[in-house]
Amino acid sequence: MTYTTHEQLEQALLVCTACPLRQDAVGPTSYNGSPLSPLAIVGEGPGGVEDEYGVPLVGPSGQLLDKALASVGITRDRIYTTNVIKCRPKNNRTPTVEEGQFCAEAWLDQELAFVHPKVIIALGSVALKYLLSPNARITKDRGKWFTTKYDIPALATYHPAYLLRLTGKDLIKAKWEVFYDLKAVVEKCQ
Ligand code: URA
Repeated sequence: MTYTTHEQLEQALLVCTACPLRQDAVGPTSYNGSPLSPLAIVGEGPGGVEDEYGVPLVGPSGQLLDKALASVGITRDRIYTTNVIKCRPKNNRTPTVEEGQFCAEAWLDQELAFVHPKVIIALGSVALKYLLSPNARITKDRGKWFTTKYDIPALATYHPAYLLRLTGKDLIKAKWEVFYDLKAVVEKCQ
């Protein structure tokens, strides 16, 4: 199905029942922020808090993302945040590559065609695998620029949920890596 406006697409998303993930979710999760932004962040898929509110990255991961963005002078209301997967998989399991592909081809592709950001951040492995290749690895490909099928430059960085699981020196190192990734993105947006 193709839509003529971003708003029409979002309205249709809210009543999507195209795959089994919908059965265990409160509902599909839409976007957050400004569709006019030059920067789009593509996350994995809703967690419990996002499923409840219908908005991406507003739970613990989203709060850590806000802090990381603030360190490079970005606030969430000025950028566009969305996910590869729109419905929360049961028990918060990681969505499969096939689930990501099915959902993103139905929604994310058209969403990003309307927003047409200048730069995309792939937040974590699920987004990287969809936007670059199923063979991509966040540990290997993080911090490197690549061109998406939308012809828009993208850079992958660690998902905040990964940072929330780290401690000590590993956490400090990963935080710096995310900081430099975000700085590179800000420079590319200018
Ligand atoms: N993790 C994501 O990638 N997206 C969300 O919306 C919530 C958690």
